[in-house]
Amino acid sequence: MELPIGAGTVIYLDNAATTFPKPKEVLDQMLEVYCRYGVNPGRSGYDLCLMAGELVADTRKALTRLFGGSDPNRLVFASNATDALNLLIQGVLSEGDHAVSTTIEHNSVIRPLNHMARDRGVEVDFVPVEAGGRVDPRAIAKRLRPNTRLVVVNHGSNVIGTIQPVGEIGRLCRARGVTFAVDTAQTAGVVPIDMQTMCIDVVAFTGHKSLLAPTGIGGLCVGDAVDIRPTRFGGTGVNSVAPYHLEEYPYRLEAGTGNVLGIAGLHFGQAYIAKRGLDAIYRHEMALFSRLQDGLAAIDGVTLHGATGLKDRLPVLSFTVAGRDPADVGTLLDVEYNIAARTGLQCAPLIHRQMGTEARGTVRLSVGPLNTESDIEAAIAAVTEIATEARVS
Ligand SMILES: Cc1ncc(COP(=O)(O)O)c(C=O)c1O
Repeated sequence: MELPIGAGTVIYLDNAATTFPKPKEVLDQMLEVYCRYGVNPGRSGYDLCLMAGELVADTRKALTRLFGGSDPNRLVFASNATDALNLLIQGVLSEGDHAVSTTIEHNSVIRPLNHMARDRGVEVDFVPVEAGGRVDPRAIAKRLRPNTRLVVVNHGSNVIGTIQPVGEIGRLCRARGVTFAVDTAQTAGVVPIDMQTMCIDVVAFTGHKSLLAPTGIGGLCVGDAVDIRPTRFGGTGVNSVAPYHLEEYPYRLEAGTGNVLGIAGLHFGQAYIAKRGLDAIYRHEMALFSRLQDGLAAIDGVTLHGATGLKDRLPVLSFTVAGRDPADVGTLLDVEYNIAARTGLQCAPLIHRQMGTEARGTVRLSVGPLNTESDIEAAIAAVTEIATEARVS
């Protein structure tokens, strides 16, 4: 069947939502694996099952290396970053505990924490970020209390692209004996992450963004010093006689059949990143982003939100056009210019409240590994026309 639209016909600048398209070689290899041995791993001893099991084990190892973790068994798979963050937050916090996070978080952190506060007797502080979107580690230190059990911080913002000083925050949490978790949904696969030097206890990741896997896969890389209470049980295929869920990792946090196709995507996504080079991918995206940022900043009537510049940031920007609702700008970009963008609050309401954009949100453009200069020039030209029309109408 001929598809009417798709990669090549749309200028896709919504990579912070999910990277698209995925590299063809990743998709081809995923399909090959699924055709050859797409069976249920870890359940039986026949060859196909062992091959699938090996793919899963290799992927645990590759991701543990990527995050600087220590034990591949403590690399557990979940459905996405939100699912992984729920495993973490609900599995670490108990009644009477205190947790610290920030106002730049995604709802995948804000909501589980709010539920713990409303329903389970946990106290939560969201530390405001500074004007440019950076969290001052000293502001986090000031909120730590004797009962603070968890600090969880967004590594890279999906709204304004700020990369947080997670190493500094990690070191101060380590000194105070507080578990430090990082939401790497926007950074894994494009920004270096090292649990050892950054003193990170738990990394939460998603597959479908810069790790170049499909949707439906993510997980946690859990450090040796952390214990996460399982919050779902059953169906690991191991020790079926046991009446309760297995205590040991990775089974401890995994229940039921895993997403083998998604894990294959992570495996080959990793290989693609290693071949092209994580630094090279970041430089490619940031070179395009630099042109995009300069181009939009020069347009009369366009406001960029958050810090400008290229330091400590991802290729993600939020803007508004004077006299136009961000939702309408998104529709115009789509309908008139065939450009895919995200509008609104981007699942991160607290940072919008702080920026004063809570009512209507912003338009977000985000660059991915397969974007080209012509995508960027098309976006600048489109926003120029939209802003000009808004001025004269
Ligand atoms: C910073 C951040 N955290 C968490 C998530 C949630 O990721 P997922 O949709 O894979 O659960 C996202 C997704 O946009 C994100 O940008």
